[in-house]
Amino acid sequence: MNPTLEVIHNRRSVRAYSDQPITTEEREQILAATFRAPTAGNMMLYSIIEVTDQALKDRLAVSCDHQPFIAMAPLVLVFLADYQRWFDYYTYCGVEQRSRELGLPYRTPQEGDLLLACCDALIAAQTAVLAAESLGIGSCYIGDILEQCETHRELLNLPPYTFPITLVCFGHPQSVETPANRSTRFGQEYILHQNTYRRFNGDEMEAMFKHLSRHFKAPDDPAKGPQNIGQSSYFRKFVADFSIEMARSVKEYLKSWNG
Ligand SMILES: Cc1cc2nc3c(=O)[nH]c(=O)nc-3n(C[C@H](O)[C@H](O)[C@H](O)COP(=O)(O)O)c2cc1C
Repeated sequence: MNPTLEVIHNRRSVRAYSDQPITTEEREQILAATFRAPTAGNMMLYSIIEVTDQALKDRLAVSCDHQPFIAMAPLVLVFLADYQRWFDYYTYCGVEQRSRELGLPYRTPQEGDLLLACCDALIAAQTAVLAAESLGIGSCYIGDILEQCETHRELLNLPPYTFPITLVCFGHPQSVETPANRSTRFGQEYILHQNTYRRFNGDEMEAMFKHLSRHFKAPDDPAKGPQNIGQSSYFRKFVADFSIEMARSVKEYLKSWNG
């Protein structure tokens, strides 16, 4: 395996960080690699907020569904989908007036623009993750930054045409994990489709989800609680408080983007 593939295959989420600091040089190497990520139309439709203020890290550790390791991470980056920068520039350049003069429709950023900007931001984030991994620095995504729209808008001073699509914690790992601890994945045959999408039948689903069975423990009383992996995942994740809050919060963000 070549060194790049080794980095990709050995990466795993790291949630416990050693005291070893991330050096200025390491930080700059991570950021320089990040800024080379592919970007739609070369527009760099993202911004990164580096959280250096410990009080702010502490707040985010709480607001992102109570995950204390966020406060312990030496490097915390919030990746924003960002159309604000371009839209401010369009405004500065007088596009509304000029559109009127030319009899052309004028529009503000919408959901499609947001999704494109999210692509940019996430590709940048994963580039940062792999750059860090290549330097021996672990990382962990925090999806819960999508929650608590009002709080995060205020804490991070987010203008309307931004959207915090993810937060990533970085730090040297406290311990080296063995490959045996790697998280499992669905088999390729369930993820990779040829030419068109194909839905799966019951037997295929049984086989597809089998690798997750070790996470499932049937309740002592079969009349109570989830009876299989699907029910367990649904009740533990899909309708959990954090998911309901995320759905609410994202709807709130979308109000800025749907005109
Ligand atoms: C979009 C996204 C959001 C995530 N959010 C969290 C999170 O809030 N907290 C956490 O501990 N891990 C989070 N993770 C890490 C996943 O749990 C992890 O990637 C997954 O279990 C697979 O393990 P691995 O990264 O070690 O291969 C997130 C990962 C992604 C891609």
